[in-house]
Amino acid sequence: MKRNIITTADGSKTIQIEEWNEQYHSVHGAIQEAKHVFIKEGLYHYCSVNSADSNDVSILEIGFGTGLNAFITLLEADKLKTKIHYFGVEAFPVGIEEMNKLNYVEQLHAKNQEHLLKQMHESLWEVEQNISSFFTLTKQKKIFSDIKDINSYDIIYFDAFGSRVQPELWTETIFKKMYDALKINGVLVTYSAKGSVRRAMQTVGFEVERLQGPPGKREMLRASKLS
Ligand SMILES: C[S@@+](CC[C@H](N)C(=O)[O-])C[C@H]1O[C@@H](n2cnc3c(N)ncnc32)[C@H](O)[C@@H]1O
Repeated sequence: MKRNIITTADGSKTIQIEEWNEQYHSVHGAIQEAKHVFIKEGLYHYCSVNSADSNDVSILEIGFGTGLNAFITLLEADKLKTKIHYFGVEAFPVGIEEMNKLNYVEQLHAKNQEHLLKQMHESLWEVEQNISSFFTLTKQKKIFSDIKDINSYDIIYFDAFGSRVQPELWTETIFKKMYDALKINGVLVTYSAKGSVRRAMQTVGFEVERLQGPPGKREMLRASKLS
């Protein structure tokens, strides 16, 4: 499928899949979306509610893609001085040529950490790698339906392509896997606010909140595993 690099409303770039008219990130701002949905409503929320346990946080990302969410999380881990173990699942890795056309390092004013983003992309699959003092990365090359982890993660960044193009990823079957993979008190955050998605999450046992969305999107969802 033909892929283009496009500039989103906050100046950060993303990849567009032309045939699907679908992007890796919000066209209203890739970095803004990542910071709002995953960092503020995921990582920061989790750390504020679970302050006693938040010195060591494990995160599962559904769709490692460009590594933008992972890179911003690394920058935050260093600021928070919180050890983060990050697990990025991805079946179709983004190639280095495409990566070089994105502008996340400049947009995030992270020139000093540029080598860390490169290291993330070059790191081996299925092996835990120390990327910084506060951030380890384990990339897992597999399809989401093969996830079988139980009680393993504090936070899930659910960042699959939208249900319009991949409806099979927004079902009770997948959310049951996500529920099982989370520890108790764990949270899943996603940019989607669709009613059918919320209901599928509730059916498998999640408590679901509708929250204000990132710029350009009215709402998003946060699902908590309470028992
Ligand atoms: C919305 S993009 C993720 C963007 C990413 N979080 C980032 O920060 O760049 C969705 C990702 O899911 C991957 N993907 C799609 N279907 C998949 C599947 N069934 N199993 C594993 N990965 C899949 C795609 O290759 C793509 O990288």
